[in-house]
Amino acid sequence: MNIAILGSGGREHALEWKFSQSKDVEQVFVVPGNGGTKNNVKIDLQDFTAINEFCVKENIELVFVGPEAPLVSGIVDYFKKQNSSIKVFGPTQKAAKMEGSKIWSKQFMQKYGVSTADFWVFESLEAAYKKIEELDGDLVIKYDGLAGGKGVYVCDNVEEALQSLAELHTNYGKDAEFLIETKLIGQEISIIGFTDGKTTKLLHPSQDHKQLLDGDKGPNTGGMGAFCPVPWCDAPMLHDIINEVVLPTMDGIEAENLDYKGVIYFGLMMTAEGPKLLEYNARFGDPETEVLLPSMKSDLLQLVKACFDGSLADFPLELADGYFVDVVLTAGGYPKKYEKGNEITGFDQIGDKALIFHAGTKRGENGEILTNGGRVLNIVGQGSDLKSAIEATYREVEKVQFEDAYYRKDIGNRPV
Ligand code: AMP
Ligand code: GLY
Repeated sequence: MNIAILGSGGREHALEWKFSQSKDVEQVFVVPGNGGTKNNVKIDLQDFTAINEFCVKENIELVFVGPEAPLVSGIVDYFKKQNSSIKVFGPTQKAAKMEGSKIWSKQFMQKYGVSTADFWVFESLEAAYKKIEELDGDLVIKYDGLAGGKGVYVCDNVEEALQSLAELHTNYGKDAEFLIETKLIGQEISIIGFTDGKTTKLLHPSQDHKQLLDGDKGPNTGGMGAFCPVPWCDAPMLHDIINEVVLPTMDGIEAENLDYKGVIYFGLMMTAEGPKLLEYNARFGDPETEVLLPSMKSDLLQLVKACFDGSLADFPLELADGYFVDVVLTAGGYPKKYEKGNEITGFDQIGDKALIFHAGTKRGENGEILTNGGRVLNIVGQGSDLKSAIEATYREVEKVQFEDAYYRKDIGNRPV
């Protein structure tokens, strides 16, 4: 079978790597891909007609969608309407609202009894101001639409909340819809699984590190690293997550006929009152994927097929033992201004057990690898415990070089 993966990050390079291990996979194309992926095809991810034409030409039977935007724009529905045999793995446009609209997804959580923070949606700005006063500004404001992680404002006081609301309206328009929710305290965890619309099979719990600086300080980024599994997320905790979040979500998906066959991501906060769902994503996380796929023993193509067939309940999902750590190397200056086009060296020094998943890279004229984005490379190591996985990863990180490379020194070392 020939496959197309949509996207250009470390997540998509990891997907290419994993699909290439399936014995039934012949060719893997990546649209548009990066300097690490092999068969790159330049097509705009919103141009579904062009993607379809390409798939027909290359005899592609499966399209795996990496990022959320094409899902929210309805790529699954588009291909269904063509009545073609090409299958697109991911939720329908309606189901992708679980990620695409914060208001819709919170109402869904409320309707189906999914554990989450209290929230309010307002008829008027005056009503929102009143709620801000009432909560003393100790709250979270969320823009309703897709915002690449930038539409969430965690506030400590009234002044900050009012400023955030003003910023939200400047960034997303004066009519931008938003909600306000209770601020929660706890550790965040990513629970990611595959679903056929009835059953969900979970991969290892994972955590990402969103902030730029050690100690989870500094500005938010697209992700500075990740690790899995999470040692403190034990069986009783997982049991609560499944009962209070995953199973009610599955009930909702069935009840609403959402026809969700794809990856589902539960972004959770573990609070003193138990797990609370912050958000759904309708896709794999990045950088979580870069540790989750190496930690999955099962064949990815067979797993995807079981989702399409509706036979996921019978699929024997096998996960690897041990721990996996991903350190992201970024270009100096990221997430603000940074250089592109610097040569990366040291790939030949990397040990056999480590993996490199490219993100912001491209190939130069002589086949050399050049930086081409803010988050440049993911280096993934493993070990029998988290400490040895961290050490193994950082040993490899030091071998790769490019001008002004930066990485966090504490990935995997988050105090509990
Ligand atoms: P979201 O896109 O909803 O996951 O929000 C992005 C980030 O904002 C989360 O990863 C949290 O760090 C933070 N956040 C979101 N909702 C809350 C909340 N209710 N309480 C505290 N922090 C939150
Ligand atoms: N790692 C967070 C995300 O992919 O949204």
